[in-house]
Amino acid sequence: MRKKIVAGNWKMNMDLAEGLAFAEVIDTYFKSKPSKAEVILCTPFIHLQGVAAITGKGKVSLGAQNCASEPSGAYTGEVSAQMIKSTGAQYVIIGHSERRSYYHEDDRLLNRKASVAIATGLKVIFCCGEVLKERESGKHFDVVKKQLEEGLFTLSMEDFRKIVIAYEPVWAIGTGLTATPDQAQEMHKYIRDLTRVKFGTDIAEDLTILYGGSCKPSNAAEIFSKPDVDGGLIGGASLKKEDFCAIVEAI
Ligand code: PGA
Repeated sequence: MRKKIVAGNWKMNMDLAEGLAFAEVIDTYFKSKPSKAEVILCTPFIHLQGVAAITGKGKVSLGAQNCASEPSGAYTGEVSAQMIKSTGAQYVIIGHSERRSYYHEDDRLLNRKASVAIATGLKVIFCCGEVLKERESGKHFDVVKKQLEEGLFTLSMEDFRKIVIAYEPVWAIGTGLTATPDQAQEMHKYIRDLTRVKFGTDIAEDLTILYGGSCKPSNAAEIFSKPDVDGGLIGGASLKKEDFCAIVEAI
């Protein structure tokens, strides 16, 4: 059976002390109440080492929210996949819509980031999803297809096995609007079908596909009940212990 995952994406929230205190709370909670899903905290870079020290022996995994597209060198201000790995983190989010739109990260660059991250030994949570205009004009399937074909489908089969895909309709991120469970299922099935054509049934069936976009305790169980939805990537609600833990338990 494929792996269920609930990942919290803290984005650019909480200073170091706040983040460490919050990680402690989450780690303690899941030590006493093991979850059916793998729980991942995706923190800002500066939190990684400290959070790794807290979660290292527990049940919670750790990830970054971005990485450099080059392995090392003269890239002022960048953080490499190897640096992330050396903190103890296992995952990195690549291609979040905020990176795509605010920092102009295109499919080619994201493909490079994913390749470097995997070569380094990190697992990648690769985000895709359409903006509202694209959905309204019926282009959402084509948009996601292009993001996957150019961002991910050039990877080898072996590398693709280290990928988790997060479908995040941009119009649902941080807006309070959520895709309906049927809309999520429809796109997740489409992504799995594309993967089957490209890499075969075994890899497609093993692929964990997360839904993200205004996921909260009140809608998580229904979204997660869909057959091709294997968990969630949670933004705003991952910053509140009660909400995040309730979403994990909805699995
Ligand atoms: P949201 O964000 O849950 O706040 O909508 C999801 C995400 O951006 O990953």
